[in-house]
Parts: sequence; structure tokens; C-alpha cells
Amino acid sequence: MPTAIIVGSQWGDEGKGKFVDYFAKNTDAVVRFQGGANAGHTLIVNGKKIVLHLIPSGILHDKTQCFIGSGVVIDLFELKNEMEMVKAAGYSIAPERFKIAGQATLVLPFHRELDAARESKHHLGTTKRGIGPAYEDRASRRALLFQDLFSPQLKERLQLLAEEKNSLFEHLYNIPKINIDALYKKLIDIAEYFRPYLMENMSYVLNTWAKEKKNILFEGAQGTLLDIMHGSYPFVTSSSTISTSACLSTGLAPQQVNKVIGIAKAYCTRVGEGPFPTELKNEVGEHLRKEGAEFGATTGRPRRCGWLDLVALKYSVRVNGITSLVLTKLDVLNSFETIKICTHYKINGQETDAFSTSSSLMVEPIYKELKGWNSRINDCRKMDDLPREAREYVQFIEREVGVPIDVVSVGPDRVESIGMTSLF
Ligand code: GDP
Ligand code: IMO
Ligand code: MG
Repeated sequence: MPTAIIVGSQWGDEGKGKFVDYFAKNTDAVVRFQGGANAGHTLIVNGKKIVLHLIPSGILHDKTQCFIGSGVVIDLFELKNEMEMVKAAGYSIAPERFKIAGQATLVLPFHRELDAARESKHHLGTTKRGIGPAYEDRASRRALLFQDLFSPQLKERLQLLAEEKNSLFEHLYNIPKINIDALYKKLIDIAEYFRPYLMENMSYVLNTWAKEKKNILFEGAQGTLLDIMHGSYPFVTSSSTISTSACLSTGLAPQQVNKVIGIAKAYCTRVGEGPFPTELKNEVGEHLRKEGAEFGATTGRPRRCGWLDLVALKYSVRVNGITSLVLTKLDVLNSFETIKICTHYKINGQETDAFSTSSSLMVEPIYKELKGWNSRINDCRKMDDLPREAREYVQFIEREVGVPIDVVSVGPDRVESIGMTSLF
């Protein structure tokens, strides 16, 4: 069963893109399983930066197949631009190696408009990429799927979807109505570009390959604490971001899952609204933001920053069944005399290490203070190269959460990594 699922184990932006690319080298296929263009996955190879939103982060390895699974919501216009960008950067995006599940949901321009209109009335801090409205149409059985682009019923289905939205736009949000004919024409035009990429039997292919012991990597977007069911609702995204979503969203049989790799930052960040117990609204938080270049890869918004939260990380290990962790951005902590880690919360006067997703609880983080290494670790390539204090920081986390940290990341480039290079 050589399959592995990679998930974000905090609030997103943990460095999933870097490590999907890092592990994709010896991988037959990389499958993006949920989310949409709300994601921003940054890959840096030989100093060159590529930010992917929808294309799986295995795309830089030409022998690796890249699939977009049924659980993803796809903005075709955004995806086309991204495909052209990847091609222009010298990588193949040929239909022989890049496929899109027919069952994936389409994000249409009016989903973005609805997302933005709702944000202006009731602020959650979404990426305004139309993610919530698109998943909601999927659940109400009105959404257009990728395969509908090639169906004679496209116009009829678009009408059903858009007419109801027009009523909402006109009467509730006071925004321009959808021009259904114009949108239909745009979809028909772009359908030809996408026709060669359609895959109708992705779950068949994935399960067959898994049985044949091909190496398959499932790439999650966002992070565990943004999960629609297990995150801090309503301050979440609209898909399931945890490991089980890889099966749900692609049709992979659960018994084929071999490993679950959690990507965790050595501290925490969050974009948008919602609870963040270890947030530092002071010069320490600003220092983390500056050192970690913590600005959104999709929206450019400054990320909220704080110390590592082990209560939240243990929760993430538990709900994902994480078998090992990759600890990223350790180098961002290079210039601290001391570093704090949250080991417990105090809630209503009681100490606990049980994470609660209730966004209304008043949580006071309890910290353990560790000695910093206060030196540059970016050139370290083996665990033994790290200063003792940095190794102790890593070992402390391992002990507390109870799973091994197999890889440590000490810079954004693919090569700035310590530890195992293959998952299979
Ligand atoms: P993702 O959404 O989980 O793929 O993460 P993002 O790409 O949104 O954000 C992670 C950011 O951290 C990107 O700018 C990466 O280039 C950068 N990054 C990843 N690993 C490291 C690391 O170990 N050190 C530093 N300094 N930057 C890193
Ligand atoms: P990657 O894959 C960080 C956050 C938004 C907002 C909430 C809901 O790069 O880790 P949405 O647009 O999904 O309806 O917004 O979720 N969010 C992310 N935060 N990284 C992401 O993706 C995110 N995708 C969504 O900021 O708080
Ligand atoms: Mg990101």
C-alpha cells in the first residue's frame, strides 16, 4: 500500500507545497483532493518561485502524473492561467500527465461575487475565491461539474443554477445579475481547452494503481483547524481538509492508505478571522511575520502569527491519524534567546491539553519556555548539524505529540531540508 496523504496540521500555509514537491520525485502520481484556488502552495527550486493554487505540487517532476480529484472546486479561468504559467516556466502540463476528475465541481464567476458580497456584510475573512458558494451548490445538487462542460445539458443546468442566484443578487445583495448567455458562451469556449484533460474513472485508476503498489501522494489544501467539520466553525473553509477527505474526495479505498504526513510550522499562523489561542499581537508576532515572510500566497494578506500550539497539534495528530510530521520554517526562529511553546490551555480556570473547536471558549495558553539557538541554521543538512537547542526543540515536540518528526525544513528552497527524502 504505497500511498501517503499529506495534510496541513494547523491553519494552512504550513509549507505543504514545498513538501509535496520534495516527496513527488519518486512518486507515480500526486492527487490534489479538496479545496480550490483559495490555496496557495509555494515551490522554490533553484531560487525560482512558483505558486500553485489548483495544480498539484508534483507538476515540476515530469515523470509524475498529476490529478485533480472530485472533491476540488475548480475555477476554470484561474486554472487555465495557472496551466499557462506552468508551461511558460518550462514544465509539461500535457494531458498525458495532467487529468481532472469529471466529478469535480466548477467555481463560476458569480460564486466569487457572492463570496465577496457576503464578506462585505458578514466578515469571516475568506479568500473571496467563491469556495463556500461553490461547495454549497454542490451540496444542494445544483452545481455544474467539470464533466457537464461537455454535456448537451450544460445550458439547462447553468440556467437552473444561475436563475436562483439572480434572485438573490437582485433582492438581497443588490449586485448585477448574471448574464447567463454570456457565461454559457464563455464556458463553451473554454471547454475545448479542457476537453483533453477529462478523466471519468479516477477512482478506478487510483485504486488499481494502489493495488499495483504504485506510489501515490494525496495533497491536501488548507489545514486541519480550517476543516468544515472539525475546525473552529464558522471560521473554517467549506471543505473537509483532514486525511479522511483524501478517500472521500477521490474514491480511494481507506484500506489503501499507508501513511499520513502532517506538515506543521515550528510556530503558528492564521489568515482571516477566528480563534487563535497563541496569537502574538506584539513585536514578537511582527518579528515572526517578518522573518517568516508571512503574507498570504493567494491574497497577500498579512498572516496572524503566534507561538507553536501543541494542544492544537495533538488534536491534529489525533483527527488525521498522522503517522509522522514534517516540521517547517525552523529557521524563522533563528534569532530568539528563548522560545515559547504552548503545552496546555487554561479554560474557565481548569488546565487541559484537550483542544476544543468551540470558537467562543476563552482560552488562556500555558507555555513552556525553551532556550533558543540564536544562530543561523539554514545551511544545516543533517539533524546532527543543528545546534543542540534546535534539536531539543524538535525532540520536545516529538515527545509531546507522540509521533516522529522525520523531516525538518530550514528554508523555503527544496534543498533546504533535513531528513528522509522519500516517503515510499
Ligand atoms: P502551503 O499553503 O502549505 O503550501 O504553504 P505556503 O506556500 O502558503 O506558505 C509557506 C511559505 O513558507 C512559502 O512562502 C514557502 O516558500 C515558505 N517556506 C516553506 N518552508 C520554509 C522553511 O523551512 N523556511 C522558510 N523560511 N520558509 C519556508
Ligand atoms: P493553503 O492550501 C490559509 C482561510 C481563509 C479564511 C477561511 C475561509 O494555502 O494552506 P475560504 O476562501 O476558504 O472560504 O476562506 O479559510 N483559508 C486559508 N488560510 N491557507 C489556505 O490554503 C487557506 N484557504 C482558505 O483565510 O480564513
Ligand atoms: Mg498557502
